[in-house]
Amino acid sequence: MLPESFLTQLRFSCDMENIASSYVNLKRAGRSKVGLCPFHLEKTPSFHVYEDTQSFYCFGCGAGGDVITFIMKIENLEYIEAVKFLAQRAGLPMPEDSGADDRTARQKARILEMNRETARFFHACLKSEAGKAGLSYLLGRGLTPATITRYGLGFAPDSWYALVNHLRSKGFRDEEMGLAALAVKGKKGYYDQFRNRVMFPIIDLRGNVIAFGGRVMDDSKPKYLNSSDTPVFKKSHNLFSLNFAKNATGNTPRRLILAEGYMDVVAMNQAGFPNAVATLGTALTAEQARLISRYADEVVIAYDADEAGQKATARASGLFSEVGLEARVLVITGAKDPDEYIKKYGAQRFKLLLDQSENVLENKLARLKNQYDLQTDDGKTRYLKAAVTTLAELHDTLERDIYAGRLSAETGVLKETILNRINLVNRQKYKARQKKEWREITSGRTLYQDTVNPDRAKHLKEALAEEGIIRFLMKNPDYQDYILTKISPEDFVTAFNQRVFRIILEKIKNNITPDLSNLVTDFSVEEMGRISGMLAKGQGLDTGRRELDDYIRVLLESKGNKDDHALQQMSAEEIMALYAAKKDS
Ligand code: UTP
Ligand code: MN
Repeated sequence: MLPESFLTQLRFSCDMENIASSYVNLKRAGRSKVGLCPFHLEKTPSFHVYEDTQSFYCFGCGAGGDVITFIMKIENLEYIEAVKFLAQRAGLPMPEDSGADDRTARQKARILEMNRETARFFHACLKSEAGKAGLSYLLGRGLTPATITRYGLGFAPDSWYALVNHLRSKGFRDEEMGLAALAVKGKKGYYDQFRNRVMFPIIDLRGNVIAFGGRVMDDSKPKYLNSSDTPVFKKSHNLFSLNFAKNATGNTPRRLILAEGYMDVVAMNQAGFPNAVATLGTALTAEQARLISRYADEVVIAYDADEAGQKATARASGLFSEVGLEARVLVITGAKDPDEYIKKYGAQRFKLLLDQSENVLENKLARLKNQYDLQTDDGKTRYLKAAVTTLAELHDTLERDIYAGRLSAETGVLKETILNRINLVNRQKYKARQKKEWREITSGRTLYQDTVNPDRAKHLKEALAEEGIIRFLMKNPDYQDYILTKISPEDFVTAFNQRVFRIILEKIKNNITPDLSNLVTDFSVEEMGRISGMLAKGQGLDTGRRELDDYIRVLLESKGNKDDHALQQMSAEEIMALYAAKKDS
């Protein structure tokens, strides 16, 4: 356990708003600051940061908590690691003997050490007799020795135990190798995961080797083998070569290039475009889109020219639009991917191609236009309908206006007519969404399974009252005696709220302020979100004694008639509250 004095100092040095704003663009809105939530995709900001309670809460996805919870979630760290992370940022030394070097942290450090040793081993193999085939493969693909060194490329020998034996000789245990996804457990013990492949180490932003991708040197399958997720690696949260690319974006606008393949990225690097990244054997994820948006103002999607690449482009551009990042599309002709293009036409031509990259919408419209015969009225009508649907996805009304103008000039249809159609499409979409949500609420089937407080939906009225009491008590701990003369924890109907109430009472009894930061170790990250939400939802309401008494009364009354059906009991206002909470998720 960390000493209280240290935690107090840490909280004092790590202002919630300050920390959050290095990940999220925050704007003032009343008593809080708001921005686009980094924990789910959204178009309108519902992520709030509260100065007074030093907390955050997202009304869209329910993520919330104090500054430590925030770092745990966004950096994907355990509690103690998040504390360390913040301490380092604030320049505070960690207290001695704090248990800070706990098991998971030690284990992660071991895996990273082992990965580094493995990268060294593969690289040495590539340069040795055993790796001749690998080296000639890479040189044959046009890579220079300098590029090979820069990326630390390597070779996994054609052997079942080369790496396992090497790591054993360095003092690593077989189980650790399994945990690092470097070795696989078979009937006769552990054997090498990567065999007879050229190896691409995956390096994170701190310079750690976190995983590997290995390519065969012929046409056999699978072409690439990637490390599975390990305690130090989440493939959906990382990008190949971001360690180089993040310092090479240039300024205003900072630009990154997103390619499909490792080889594309390496080839671009060699050709003088170090601002390129690739996903790690999966389609782009929301986390990766957000990661890119952290380092760039603009992204160029440089996927393969084939059908699959085009589909992936459409998907990726959707994700970028949701995180609010300007995306452009590289249209490659005469080659299948950036690697091949550069090899065929050279870096100069590739630069031109980059400069001509189209913005996503233009690209979409151009492709639509090719699908219809604009000489016929029927073709024109269908093109217009499809184009209007596409334009309806634009959030920016100015942009909408510009493209409606262009479309008007193209087809001879009045701009006003086009804009009206766009509005109509959006109204219909909105109505359809509302209807669906309403059906889900009234059918009692909730949009999501409430794992934190499963009783809540069934006893919404009581749950809201309980949350009001918790909120009041957190803000006014000296009211504990007053509250306890009227109700006790057993009167709480929902299990989670009851637990929260008990723990808060216990804190107060032990002279600990029951604010969020003192609850982190008692609750999971999801649970913290819920508690943070109770505070955040009360921001507008000025909760005083009168409201407190009302909440208590609701709870006590419900004791009398236990079998009331919650949904029937709900007032329209409460249903709307439920509705609002779900709207953005
Ligand atoms: P590509 O086949 O386009 O890879 O797959 P590439 O890097 O251009 O490879 P070369 O040029 O043929 O050598 C794109 C990416 O998809 C993942 C890899 O991350 C690859 O870089 N992939 C592909 C796999 O994970 N497994 C596979 O079997 C194939
Ligand atoms: Mn390729």
